[in-house]
Amino acid sequence: MDLSDRIVVLTGAGISADSGVPTFRDSGGIWAKYHYRDVATPEGFAANPNLLHEFYNLRRAGLPTVQPNPAHDALAQLAQAKREAGGCLTLVTQNVDDLHERGGSKSVWHMHGELTKARCTSCGTVREWADALSVTVSCPDCAERGTLRPHIVWFGEVPMLMEEIAEAVAEADLFVSIGTSGSVYPAAGFVGEAKSLGIPCMEINLEPSENAHLFDEAFYGPAAEQVPVFVGRLMSAVSR
Ligand code: APR
Repeated sequence: MDLSDRIVVLTGAGISADSGVPTFRDSGGIWAKYHYRDVATPEGFAANPNLLHEFYNLRRAGLPTVQPNPAHDALAQLAQAKREAGGCLTLVTQNVDDLHERGGSKSVWHMHGELTKARCTSCGTVREWADALSVTVSCPDCAERGTLRPHIVWFGEVPMLMEEIAEAVAEADLFVSIGTSGSVYPAAGFVGEAKSLGIPCMEINLEPSENAHLFDEAFYGPAAEQVPVFVGRLMSAVSR
C-alpha cells in the first residue's frame, strides 16, 4: 500500500458526528425525530411539501454553525498527497453536508445529493442554494413558483454517480468505509462488490456496522481520532 495506488473511501453520517451533526440511526438521531417517509420520499414531498422544506431548511441553516473535524481534514490531506504521488483517492459520501469540501477535499461525490443545492422540478436546473426553500419560492431560472426541491436523493430515488462509483470501486487497490451503519443500499453494497474482486476492505467506525463481517481490517472509535491515525500510517509508510 503506497500513495501511488487507488483508494475509494465511502463516508456516512458518522464522519460528521464529531462536528456536531446528528447521525440518522444512533440513539436520538434524525430518524428518532422525523419519519423518513414524511421528509425523505417523493410521496412525502407531494403530501406535505412545507414539512419536508422545513426539515431541510433547519439542516441547511445549521451548516454554518458546524465545522469540519480532523477526519475531514485528514482525508483531504491524504487525497492531496496521493495526487502528488500519482495515485488517487475517490471520495464518495452519503452525506449531504458540505464538511468534506470545507475540510479541503477538492472532489466529493455526493451520491445522496447536497443540502447546499436546490433543483427545479420544472426546468431541471440545479443551483447553489443557501436560503430557505418553500412552496412560495420561484425558480430563478424558469420563474415557476413552488417547483424548487432540495437536490437530495430520497428513498425510492436513484442515487447519483452510481456508474462512476462502480467503476472506481472495481479499479481500487483499497476500499475504506468510514462512519456508516451499512444499512442503506446501494452504498452498503459497495464493500461486497470490492470483496468479490479481491480488493482489501477496511472499516473505520464508532462500532461494528451491519456489514462489519465483510471487512478485512477494522478500527473502531470516533472518526475524528481514527481517521487521522489511518492517514498518518499511510503517509509515514511512504516517507520511510
Ligand atoms: N465516529 C465514527 N463513526 C460514528 C461516530 C463517530 N463519532 N458516531 C456515530 N458513528 C457511526 C455509527 O456507529 C453508525 O454506524 O456512524 C454510523 C451512522 O449510521 P447512520 O446514522 O445509519 O448514518 P449513515 O450510515 O450515513 O446512513 C446512510 O441513510 O437515512 C439515510 O440518506 C441517509 O445517507 C443516509 C443513509
